[in-house]
Amino acid sequence: MLTAAMNERLTRVGPDTPGGELMRRYWIPIAPYSQLDENPVRKVRVLGEDLVLYKDKSGTLGLVGDRCLHRNVDLQFGIPDQCGLRCPYHGWLFNEGGKCVERPMEATPRGEIKQKLKAYPVQELGGLVFAYLGPQPAPALPRWDLFVWPNAIRQIGIMTINCNWLQCHENTGDPTHSAWAHGHMFQYVLEQQGRYEEAAARAEHTLHTRLKTGIGIKELYANETETGISKGVRYSQELGADSDYTREHSTVIFPFFTQTGKTGAPRSEYQIRVPIDDTHTYHICYQVYAAPPGVEAPQQDSVPWYEPPRHDENGKPILDYVLAQDALVWDAQGAITDRTAELLGRTDIPIVLLRRQLDQQIGRVEEGLDPINFYRESPDIIYGSGSAPDYSKPLLKHNFRKLYHRGFFNDDADRYGPALELVKDLHRKIEEFETAQQNALEKTESGSN
Ligand code: FES
Ligand SMILES: [Fe+2]
Repeated sequence: MLTAAMNERLTRVGPDTPGGELMRRYWIPIAPYSQLDENPVRKVRVLGEDLVLYKDKSGTLGLVGDRCLHRNVDLQFGIPDQCGLRCPYHGWLFNEGGKCVERPMEATPRGEIKQKLKAYPVQELGGLVFAYLGPQPAPALPRWDLFVWPNAIRQIGIMTINCNWLQCHENTGDPTHSAWAHGHMFQYVLEQQGRYEEAAARAEHTLHTRLKTGIGIKELYANETETGISKGVRYSQELGADSDYTREHSTVIFPFFTQTGKTGAPRSEYQIRVPIDDTHTYHICYQVYAAPPGVEAPQQDSVPWYEPPRHDENGKPILDYVLAQDALVWDAQGAITDRTAELLGRTDIPIVLLRRQLDQQIGRVEEGLDPINFYRESPDIIYGSGSAPDYSKPLLKHNFRKLYHRGFFNDDADRYGPALELVKDLHRKIEEFETAQQNALEKTESGSN
């Protein structure tokens, strides 16, 4: 458990809060870039601040305060101009620095206005728009691997979650929830729908692999790394596991990313928990399906986005896919969960470390130091999982994650994704390629015998 004061410290993200100051040291993803092709002006709320993101006719991105300086009209209704955004009421024009550069209805301009709209720098990377809300000079936008890895298909799933960001992120520090939220609860949901038999017959259904993760747990481990936390579970045959083995869990990238699947894998993902404010989270699943050397991934003109549904047409929760199961337990803990009333157990070891790391990094910013993952210059690529892919080893924990063409996309949010057909084609090509390689190897081996 935490004290009430520590819970406040770790969860609050508004301006002038310790946690908010920490968050304001990072480039924060705020929208899929492709959304601006649909509508070039969008309301954005991030770290408790109401802003408007726009792309003007010259292609410049801007992120400015949402209220016109003249008479407070909400600029989400603004009109993109050649250079800047115009208020729809009297046409005042604002540039990406928040400066008012034209007041068309003022016959006798009375000089420059001193006031400016709030304005923050924005940049695009990997199909996402990132904003920096902190003190200048802004750090470099880190080139995390999945955003820049070549020869891959991408899609972006977004969801708004009605709770504090840290609940979503603590889920990452909790390797054992899988057995229940994605195993037993999955089974219960399918039984209620009369679909369990069908799932039980599918040996690779997520439900079976997840149930297995709860059997024979000896202990959990969690270690701080240069970029976050690595963690996993040690299993023991004596306690019922198939054998003694260690299974690495997803990688935590500070402050609010988690990575599943290694770079270059046929399926990998960042889950990014962006604080909208203290009680809402903008949850991004940044999904990447990479081709191995020798296979070419189809080209995409832009990275498409989608919103996985959480309710059916009757308003009932949809719970038969992994992300929806996670989302349920995140906001089922309450808007900001009361951590003074917890009873932590042995499965919460990584969560304790995750909280300690967050507290320490907030402390660094309080002392005027840079927190981790703050880059003055970014390397061309930063490996979230620590290293470049080694294609001689399996890059996925669950092999079915490369068999979407055989129906194994169905258990997670990806099933709603606009790039799904491309992914199935890619996975089919990868399987054909790997089978051909295997056949060639066997032929060579039998020839040399
Ligand atoms: S309110 Fe915006 S120009 Fe008048
Ligand atoms: Fe989960």
